[in-house]
This record gives sequence, C-alpha cells and structure tokens, in this order.
Amino acid sequence: MALLEIEKAGAPILKQICDPVKKIDGKLRGFLDDMAETMYKNDGIGLAAPQVGRSIRAVVIDIREGKLLELINPEITSKEGSALDSEGCLSVPGIYGDVERSSKVTVNYTTRYGKRRKLEADGLLARCIQHELDHLNGILFIDVAKNLRQETPEA
Ligand code: NI
Repeated sequence: MALLEIEKAGAPILKQICDPVKKIDGKLRGFLDDMAETMYKNDGIGLAAPQVGRSIRAVVIDIREGKLLELINPEITSKEGSALDSEGCLSVPGIYGDVERSSKVTVNYTTRYGKRRKLEADGLLARCIQHELDHLNGILFIDVAKNLRQETPEA
C-alpha cells in the first residue's frame, strides 16, 4: 500500500467530470487500498479518486464506524428530505462550511469484485456520499456551501 498525494482546491483535476471505471481488476483494488490508507492517515471520512490524481468514478468512505465502504461507478437513484450541516474536505484543509444535502439517499454502485449493489443511507453517511459523488462531477463543497469559515481542527 502507498500513501497518495492529495490534490488541493485550485488543481484542475478537481473541476473535471470523472470517467466511469471500465475495468475492475487487481490494479484498481490496489488503488482503492491506497485511497483508504490515504483517507485514514489524513483523518478523513471520505476520499474521491480525483482528490488523489485520478479522474475516475471511485470513492472510499468510512464515517469512523470501522466500516470501509468502496463505491465504484456510484449513482444516486433517489433522494429524500434535506438537512443543513457543516462539512470540510481534505482538498480544502482548514475550511468548513454549511451545505444543504438530501437527508436520505439510495445509491447504486459496483463493488471491488464487480458486483452491483444498492445502499440506503441517512445522516452523516448520506451527507458523505453526496459530498464524495460531487467530487466525481467536479464540484467542491466550497462551491455549494454557505457561511464558509476557517477553523483549526480540534486536537
Ligand atoms: Ni471532499
């Protein structure tokens, strides 16, 4: 496994629409492992492939429940409700802002072994999925947030 370098806001790759993953193989699984390691080492709860320099539709998420979620070619198929809460991003260190998101989402995705699955999520997980999927469409949370502010993270 390897730590990957995180692209920061201003990097052109963060504004691009990512390509679908076409081939699910050992190379992709190795990349997903590297993404997860990079997310954990940086205390993130989600990371999208373009944030580590690859414009493909893959994200990793772990909302500190010890359950790693890998979403390949994810698509939100339904949304419900709305909720406003604070977000940050490893590509925009130290900046936080409030983002309106759907409170509940259903997402279809492919697993690292090529199986298509469906997941229903609410709360923080639903928020995180929407934040990461925005990355795949070239959208950063600072593009959609209100009340952007600089904060020192708690130790
Ligand atoms: Ni982010």
